[in-house]
Amino acid sequence: MITFRHNAWILGTPETTYIFRKTKTGHLEHLYYGPAIAHAESLSKDDLAAMSVRRVFPAGNMISYDADHSAVTLENVNLEMSSRGKGDIREPFLEIVNADGSRTSDFLFDSAEISESAPDLLTIPCSVPWQGDPEKAPDHLKIVLKDAAARLKLELHYYVYEDCDVITRTARLINEGESNVTILRLMSAQLDLERADLQMTAFRGAWVREMARFSVPVSGPKVVNASACGTSSNRANPFVMLHPAQTSEDAGFAAACNLVYSGNHWESAEVNAFGQTRFLAGINPEGFSWQLRPQETFEAPEAVLTCTDSGFHGISRHMHAFVRRHIQRGKWADEIRPILLNSWEACYFKINESTLLRLAKAAKDSGIELFVMDDGWFLNRNDDRHALGDWTVDRKKLPGGLSGLSDKIHGMGLKFGIWIEPEMVNVESNLYRTHPEWVMQIPGREHSEGRTQRVLDFANPAVVDYMTERMSSVFREGRVDYVKWDMNRIFSDVFSPYVASLDTDPIRQGETAHRYMIGVYRLAKNLTEAFPSVLFEGCASGGNRFDLGMLCCFPQIWGSDNTDAISRSYIQEGYSYGYPMSAFTSHISAVPNHQTLRVTSLATRFAVSAFGISGYELNLIDMPPYVRDAVTKQVELYKIWREVLQKGEFYRGRIPGADSVSVGQSGYPEGLDASGLYPGSGRIHEWTCVSRDRRYAVGLLLQEMVTPNSPFESYFPRGLDPNLRYKFTNLDKSYDIRKFGDLINTQAPVHVRQDSLLHRTIARFVKMPGEKENHVLLGSVLMKAGIRLSPAFAGTGYSDGVRKFQDYAARLYFMEAVDSPEEESDS
Ligand code: GLA
Repeated sequence: MITFRHNAWILGTPETTYIFRKTKTGHLEHLYYGPAIAHAESLSKDDLAAMSVRRVFPAGNMISYDADHSAVTLENVNLEMSSRGKGDIREPFLEIVNADGSRTSDFLFDSAEISESAPDLLTIPCSVPWQGDPEKAPDHLKIVLKDAAARLKLELHYYVYEDCDVITRTARLINEGESNVTILRLMSAQLDLERADLQMTAFRGAWVREMARFSVPVSGPKVVNASACGTSSNRANPFVMLHPAQTSEDAGFAAACNLVYSGNHWESAEVNAFGQTRFLAGINPEGFSWQLRPQETFEAPEAVLTCTDSGFHGISRHMHAFVRRHIQRGKWADEIRPILLNSWEACYFKINESTLLRLAKAAKDSGIELFVMDDGWFLNRNDDRHALGDWTVDRKKLPGGLSGLSDKIHGMGLKFGIWIEPEMVNVESNLYRTHPEWVMQIPGREHSEGRTQRVLDFANPAVVDYMTERMSSVFREGRVDYVKWDMNRIFSDVFSPYVASLDTDPIRQGETAHRYMIGVYRLAKNLTEAFPSVLFEGCASGGNRFDLGMLCCFPQIWGSDNTDAISRSYIQEGYSYGYPMSAFTSHISAVPNHQTLRVTSLATRFAVSAFGISGYELNLIDMPPYVRDAVTKQVELYKIWREVLQKGEFYRGRIPGADSVSVGQSGYPEGLDASGLYPGSGRIHEWTCVSRDRRYAVGLLLQEMVTPNSPFESYFPRGLDPNLRYKFTNLDKSYDIRKFGDLINTQAPVHVRQDSLLHRTIARFVKMPGEKENHVLLGSVLMKAGIRLSPAFAGTGYSDGVRKFQDYAARLYFMEAVDSPEEESDS
């Protein structure tokens, strides 16, 4: 809801309120963004005045705005948008080089309009169009500001998504003059808060180490989370949170912002000399510039804002709902995603039709639904040095071409998917030889490469058109059901031959990275619209372009090239703050793991991967029958529970490194176990995913390292209906007795030499039964008191009542509401 009263605009959602007002000088003063204020739509003049900083005299050593308002010093006004040159010396929202070379701007209120209208954005095809019932389009506030001297018009747009407590913001700058101006920055959101006690939590990393959570205080020097990679990047995801240090998973204030953008981004927070915090988010101004000609418009990508007083969970709840309802789109947005087998970690570049068909057959036998041929299928693509750009099938590897293979895969009853990397080119390719001018590179300068490849100049519409045609023909020929759209390097030597051809003014090269993104969005739009039933998955060496812009194009993204279950538990936890589980894919791969050489059990790999869009990426043909049987069972199980796992609400319980432990839960500070003596042990990941109707839930408990003699463990599900009773079960487990090594001799009547033939033979016939959980329990009991699990093996105890829960062990728990509360449990 949007209300205008006493010169203030009040934007309300059920859980949040956002207020700003017009000042006497014509600026927009931010008054409040936080948990919902009761009766916000009827605030009095005094209520609003109470939220405004009172200005009576000009402070020393500051700039008075003008003679009539000498007490107004913009340096300490909380503003909705800010610029340079009139006394505000903080990071600005907007920075322009005017026609006369000056960099001062002063945008003052002109008009405002409240309407119900879906965003109709100009240049960025990914921006959030309204996804739901047109009757319930978000409320929309458009504020027009003008810099009369520069003849520039600035529109600030606010969209209020009441259904998920989100407000999106964007800005458009329109040149109403007769001369060119240069935009040095136009951010998407500014949040000036009258407080100085915040931290910025951001998610940073590298290849195979995405989304590690960092929190830094904002009170000192300026804090910046930004990418200059050309992509939103694995180095710094654009999703950030601002909150006091004491905010926990469940309690306390937090605000969060994400950008609907996949290129260079910037999120900064600084506290001025007066204890006021400024947060900005938008396109990274470093390296950016944009020439705006008369009558042209430049539009910033949308920023997605939310806030809560229910801690990080409150943020996740709002962001997940927003992503699911308004970002993910198309046929697959809310569809159950198929379980796949991908050829990459099974074969790498060594693919050919017979291997692929054998893999596909094994996949089909295990109940897998989609077979994906990864890299290596096109001519001369036997390594990463050749052929990117030439999308012609290698007939030596695939004699029947794409259509031949696709027919055979489809003939097996599987869907068929393919890998592409349309934005890239190898120098060793026909495309490069024919069209060197289509490549981002600087004439006369040696080009630095990443993965021996270069970036195509997607700023050039001809390149996008060409790729639209090439990719369409690949998809048609392969009759593909799924596409993995990869992008495997970051930018260097940024230069667009196309932009250079438009204009000799060298400043225009500052447009290249953003024009590139617009080109990528256009290609994605062309292809997703032309192939509406194809399931597209984004990928950029894993999570190097994991953001809301990509999720507008593709409903799922390969979360990381790291398929190790322990690494993945951190990476997926990181994503879970801002993105729902239906946004990231997660595969079960071979051990030793190809990225870490770590060995974890198949059960643990499955458990972690199930909390994402699950699939397999291993050589099933080489797997012994018992592994293939286990895979078949996992696939069956996943199919039963994936409705819950893919569409449900995800909750973090205990997590390693959490700043605080939720009320009512056991847990130890990071790195310490119960005794405080075993750093590294006691690191538990505790997750729950609950169906939308709260009748079904799946839980996970994962332990990194065992603590000696620590048999007792509880599991605390979250998000259940407190009033329902749930049947609580685990999976039937039986252990290979070889896992107990020569401890077998404490039980066996004869001596058994470890790893001897006798040991192996006994192991084949004698399994150690695992613990069984089978109870009917009240949701409230489960959530508040937790369930005490069967005791874990602790140096003693070998029975079916004992949980063997050693290093890297995981358990899945299943909860199903029972209709008759009297149903008896086994316990
Ligand atoms: C990237 C992807 C991988 C795989 C390879 C193929 O690294 O992230 O999953 O597709 O490219 O070259």
